[in-house]
Amino acid sequence: HPLRVLVIGAALRKGSTNIRLASLVARLINDTGATADLAPLYDFDMPLYNGDVEEAHGLPPGALALCERLRSSDAFVIASPEYNASVPGVLKNAIDWVSRIRPQPFKTKHALLVSASPSMAGGNRGLWVLRVPLEHLGTRVYPDMFSLAKAHEGFTESGDLADPGLQKRLTDTVRGFLSLVEADTRYGCLQRR
Ligand code: FNR
Repeated sequence: HPLRVLVIGAALRKGSTNIRLASLVARLINDTGATADLAPLYDFDMPLYNGDVEEAHGLPPGALALCERLRSSDAFVIASPEYNASVPGVLKNAIDWVSRIRPQPFKTKHALLVSASPSMAGGNRGLWVLRVPLEHLGTRVYPDMFSLAKAHEGFTESGDLADPGLQKRLTDTVRGFLSLVEADTRYGCLQRR
C-alpha cells in the first residue's frame, strides 16, 4: 500500500500559518503518490494533563483519536509554531497525553519537523526543543528540518510558498524524508502498520 503520513498542524487558531504549512506539506506528500492525513490540533480536544483525571477517567477522547491516527500512519510530520524559543504548550500537552498510551505510538516512527513564524528565524529554535521529547519517546526525527521565516507574507493565494527557491527546498525535504521512510519500512527493521 502507499505510505500514509500524518501531518499534525500544532496550532489551535484557524488562521495559523503553521496549519497552512501543514496543508502545503500534505499536498506535497499527496503529489508523490503517498497519502497524507492532515490533523490540525484543534480537532483533538483534551484537557491539560492531570494524573488524577487520567486515574478517574482514563485517556481523553482527543488523545485516543490522535493516537489512532498516529497508529494508522507509517510516519508523521509536525508543523509547529515556536513559543518563547520552545514548544507551544498545546503540542507538548498532546505529546504528554499520547505518550501514556501503550504500546507507545511515537516509538520507532519517523518524523519530519517544520515550522512557520513571522520572525527571521522561522521558529527553528522551537524545533530543536521539540526533538527532545520526541527522541526521548523513540521517534526517529529526520535530521533536516524546514523553517519558514516571515510566514505572514510567505504564502501565495493557492497555498504555495511565495519564494520558489523555498518551495523547492520544502519539496526536496519532504521527498527526502519520504524516501527514507519508504526505504526503512520496505527494507529496514521497521514493521509496517
Ligand atoms: C510567539 N511568537 C514567537 N515567534 C518566534 O519566532 N519565536 C518565539 O519565541 C515566539 N514566541 C511566542 C510566544 C507566544 C506566547 C506567542 C503567542 C507567540 C510568535 C509566533 O511565531 C506567531 O504568533 C505565529 O504566527 C504563531 O504561529 P501560527 O499561529 O501562525 O501557526
